[in-house]
Amino acid sequence: MRLDKTLANSGYGTRTEVKSLISKGQVHVNGVMIKDPGFHVKDEDTITIGGNSTSIKDKFYLLLDKPDGVLTAMEDKRLPHVGELLPSNLKNKKISPVGRLDFHTTGLLILTNDGELSHRLTSPNYGISKTYEVTYEGDLLTDKEALEASSGMVLLDKEPHIKLRPSTVVFDNGTNTARITLSEGKTHEVRRIFAQWNRPVITLRRVSLGPISLEEKPQEMLRELTDDEVKSLKEITGLV
Ligand code: URA
Repeated sequence: MRLDKTLANSGYGTRTEVKSLISKGQVHVNGVMIKDPGFHVKDEDTITIGGNSTSIKDKFYLLLDKPDGVLTAMEDKRLPHVGELLPSNLKNKKISPVGRLDFHTTGLLILTNDGELSHRLTSPNYGISKTYEVTYEGDLLTDKEALEASSGMVLLDKEPHIKLRPSTVVFDNGTNTARITLSEGKTHEVRRIFAQWNRPVITLRRVSLGPISLEEKPQEMLRELTDDEVKSLKEITGLV
């Protein structure tokens, strides 16, 4: 990839800004000063900028704790959307959400410009598990509902009826809180399951996706996934 594009993609400024850095002689590739912005760099090259070495980075993996009342979209003319939550240096990197959370669902949303990983995390073929914390109205859940979920229930709210994959429901005895783990992502799946049980969802929060959990450490609203977290996602989707 071109040197100027690589540096711009890695957050060192706009194409014009990085061209200026290059022409001022501040950029070295494998120890050699390079003044040609079109110079071709390879993944294994070591680039130093003003004496600091950097790795070539064009893939970004972010973890957002999505707030309530935010659309899972990079752009929208009317409503608050996740695109607005990205810092400006990440805005032109073709980053998009992996899957979708409803406007009023909060919690774990991964954003990336790694299209293959995104595809695999959302494709039913890979069956990546997603756990949601639910509060609901109505009578407390019983073993009957948990059993129905675990045997793969049929959603009756629309034609044709949909047979869901088995899911796991764990409820807190004595409270109107439950956790449900799904291995697919049908539209509004959790809300529809609970509606069918006459327990309308009050709040819905995704707390984990595969090996990534919001609960392991205090969570900023938006952070980059660590290298280990990215590796764990690639492992469960067969990319490494
Ligand atoms: N299921 C839902 O009903 N809504 C979400 O946002 C995610 C899963």
